[in-house]
Amino acid sequence: MRKILHIYIVAFCLWSCSESHADREALIEEALQELEEQEETDEEEEEETSLMYYSSEISSLLDLHCVSCHSNANATSSLSLEGYQNAKTSFDTGTSLERIQSTTNPMPPAYKTPLSVDEIAKLIKWQNDGFLETDPNL
Ligand code: HEC
Repeated sequence: MRKILHIYIVAFCLWSCSESHADREALIEEALQELEEQEETDEEEEEETSLMYYSSEISSLLDLHCVSCHSNANATSSLSLEGYQNAKTSFDTGTSLERIQSTTNPMPPAYKTPLSVDEIAKLIKWQNDGFLETDPNL
């Protein structure tokens, strides 16, 4: 991106050689500053969306796909995925992450709507981010 902009700037400088040197320098300065600002806001935006929290997305995802069979009151196979601690334990030290990705023995069971690629990616990201519970910015 930066390289392309540089090429444009150089081309522009060659083309507009009638303009005074100082004017051109000011223009280049302005363009570079704009680019830097753009990069800064890009970074800020990325940081805001870069962590996966249980309370933001994981809780509702598990409620939708798992808790009907794995709740505290109805813990099929002695597994409850209700609440942060239970969910974290099963995804951290249990087999939930393998089962949601299994083709031979999937969870939820094959007769249910499977998780989408996007939902599986969220759960993997939750693991990679360290099973965070609540977004401190909310
Ligand atoms: C329709 C009911 C149903 C739903 C929905 C469901 N499960 Fe299950 N789950 C079962 C049953 C029945 C078993 C026991 C048989 C087996 O292991 O296949 C089981 C077993 C498991 C086990 C193995 C537990 C153990 O150690 O014995 C895991 C892990 C699991 N489920 C995770 C999940 C996750 C994660 C979801 C949601 C993405 C989910 N399940 C959704 C019915 C369900």
